[in-house]
Amino acid sequence: IPPGIDLLEEINRLRKERNAVILAHYYQRPELQDLADFVGDSLELSKKAAETDADVIAFCGVKFMADTAKILSPEKIVVLPDMEAGCSLEDSCPPDKFAAFRAKHPDHIALTYINCSTEVKALSDVIVTSSSAETILSQIPEDQPIIFGPDRHLGGYLNRKFNREMLLWPGVCIVHEAFSEKELIKLKAEHPEAPIAAHPECPPHIIDHADYVGSTSGILNFAKTFPGDTLIVATEPHIIHQMEKAIPEKTFLGAPGADGNCNCNICPYMALNTMEKLYLCLRDLEPRIEIEEDLRLKAKASLNKMLEMAA
Ligand code: 13P
Ligand code: SF4
Repeated sequence: IPPGIDLLEEINRLRKERNAVILAHYYQRPELQDLADFVGDSLELSKKAAETDADVIAFCGVKFMADTAKILSPEKIVVLPDMEAGCSLEDSCPPDKFAAFRAKHPDHIALTYINCSTEVKALSDVIVTSSSAETILSQIPEDQPIIFGPDRHLGGYLNRKFNREMLLWPGVCIVHEAFSEKELIKLKAEHPEAPIAAHPECPPHIIDHADYVGSTSGILNFAKTFPGDTLIVATEPHIIHQMEKAIPEKTFLGAPGADGNCNCNICPYMALNTMEKLYLCLRDLEPRIEIEEDLRLKAKASLNKMLEMAA
């Protein structure tokens, strides 16, 4: 990076020159959320990627999100500021092991969380995000056996809510797994009036304390509409940036980890993307997502099913 350059100015120049759209997830650093053309949850970002008429999609998120953009918009150049921005859920579910799990349960359909590899999407029947899972599950007949992966907490939450018995893959999100129930109870005792909003990737001992459970967009919407003035937020703390922008007069407290503060719940993968790396990927159009066409078409079928059923 040339010394002394103004990164924001250069990113703004390059995004025009490249006809690029910058998409960002709510868990990204505030400076990336602020410069993005669109900030959203996984479902909204997938829809934006499918619709855009830009030539380049610069994805400020993690790899499975950029892969999804490429699956849905293969003619676009899709760049990810840091290719190492993975996800513990994706890592927990190697495609060969998932294929063996499927083969063991031939009468089950595979309903799969979008936080997985393209290969696992290609082995699945329907993809869901946290904001579309409930709508989609409610359209599947009750007597249809289902395997659900890779997030056992989201799957368990859906099983409890819909009285289903989906077989669960044992993956977890390391970020949502790290909230401490003991510290949450302490925080709640200090703010008894504050409701708790939680992401369904949280384990049940955290969900049990929540007044609202939903996707990042759902939680943001709850923050804009709840009647009180303090909210406890049990998801990745960077989303609080959007809450403070939208409702500056209210107080948002990140749910704590075992050390009593919310910084241990920062997603280490999401945090890999920086202004410097965004500048470099717009300049060099690298690192770029490439997906083999046969695999892409198989993964696209299960993603399209989600987009149809979630509409
Ligand atoms: P949503 O934005 O769809 O709620 O997903 C949360 C998440 O963990 C993304 O990695
Ligand atoms: Fe994956 Fe969890 Fe990070 Fe989301 S927050 S990208 S689910 S590790």
